Amino acid sequence: MPIHDAAYQQCISPVCSAMYGVDQTLMACQKCGALLDIKYDWKKLPIPKNLNFFEHRWSTKGTEAEGRADFSGVWRFRELMPFYRDEADIVTIGEGRTMLQKADLLARQFGMKPGKLLLQYEGLNPSGSFKDNGMTAAFTHARMVGAHKVACASTGNTSASLAMFAALAELRGIVFIGSGKISFGKLSQALDYGALTLQIHGDFDDCLRRIREVALNPKNGIYLMNSVNPFRLEGQKSIMYRILEASDWESPDWVIVPGGNLGNCSAFGKAFMELKELGLVRKIPRLAVINASGANTLDELYSRRGLRWNDGNYDSGLVQRHYAALDESHYKAHTVASAIEISRPVNLPKALRALSFMNGQVRQVSDEQILEHRAMVARFGFGCEPASAASVAGLHKLLDEKVIGPDETVVCILTGHELKDPNATVQYHIGDGPKGKLSNRPVQVEDDLDAIIKAMNQ
Ligand code: F0G
Repeated sequence: MPIHDAAYQQCISPVCSAMYGVDQTLMACQKCGALLDIKYDWKKLPIPKNLNFFEHRWSTKGTEAEGRADFSGVWRFRELMPFYRDEADIVTIGEGRTMLQKADLLARQFGMKPGKLLLQYEGLNPSGSFKDNGMTAAFTHARMVGAHKVACASTGNTSASLAMFAALAELRGIVFIGSGKISFGKLSQALDYGALTLQIHGDFDDCLRRIREVALNPKNGIYLMNSVNPFRLEGQKSIMYRILEASDWESPDWVIVPGGNLGNCSAFGKAFMELKELGLVRKIPRLAVINASGANTLDELYSRRGLRWNDGNYDSGLVQRHYAALDESHYKAHTVASAIEISRPVNLPKALRALSFMNGQVRQVSDEQILEHRAMVARFGFGCEPASAASVAGLHKLLDEKVIGPDETVVCILTGHELKDPNATVQYHIGDGPKGKLSNRPVQVEDDLDAIIKAMNQ
């Protein structure tokens, strides 16, 4: 039996639970409109007895065609995401070879014990963000279903990753970005990789609404690559597998991640739900999702208004009322962490499910906190883009509140590379705004040897 016969899509609403084949391209349940999951009939699949099984693949070189799947930090866990037809379908560029780093200097700043704070550097992916984990999976599905044109709305990283994979897979890539909303590092990638780049006069929420309208009409022949595409999230589960692998398969106490469209945290929840079901992991880490305060829908609904997954019967009326109020006040998300400048996160229900399964917490952090913690990551570890540092700022807050104890092991996900947004960094150090605590201005010196030596010794 081909392995993908044991995979199917299913509506996440327990009252609906409609099922669809993996050969279909759907962005929502056709019966009730809820999000879809990729599900597996694990009994029909070869599942490793324990997670150590995956380790031997880590050392595979990426030069030979037959080693490509093992080389990928996503596909070397392919038994845990077996929706593809055969390995020839897999579209990979060697993504997911990222690392978990102990950050003892940074831990000391927060009063944490050595070895307790770890940073998962997802900016080390080929396009510089965690999105490559998901794109490799969605492009594999796009190839399975014979897609020609792939598209997304993006705050920047999704578009960079899509453009890179589209070039690799020889598909037409189209990206919708909010005009003036994305950092130059990200825009430059979409342009360089040859994607058709549409700068829509609006923000991310507007772009996503439009691209979903476009993708809904089959006449447009668009395969949608945003995280409403459940295949994306299959690949993003691998971030959790790599953290476990780097920790000798011991779960940390906490995983902290920035929240934008809420795809990543949803994928983390699914990863642990499945590992638990398969008996491959004992301890489930707690999850903390951190919003920017200028884009705080999840925190507002979860922490302040008590919205919960409630076994799938979450209060969708509360969500609708919140969105109606945003519309009424012409609210637009606004944060220096442009990657997470999103006020209508499409994966909200899946995020609620993940928070429920992983006994989660949600917080929001200010732009100032984001920028100061970004600078701290750079000074005491190595850098990341502003949105990524929301996770570290969130950790600081949860430590202050004593929700996280100094003895607990915490992994912060650094979702994007420092060089994605050099403007934010330079602005922090030499901008006109309030002086950052770690601001490090260049010193102006005459072209004169004495003056140079004097300046070096100051
Ligand atoms: N961090 C970075 C660097 C991101 O680019 C994003 C999302 C997130 C965090 C949030 O992840 O959406 O799964 O909750 N960027 C998307 C984009 C929206 O278009 O690049 P999420």
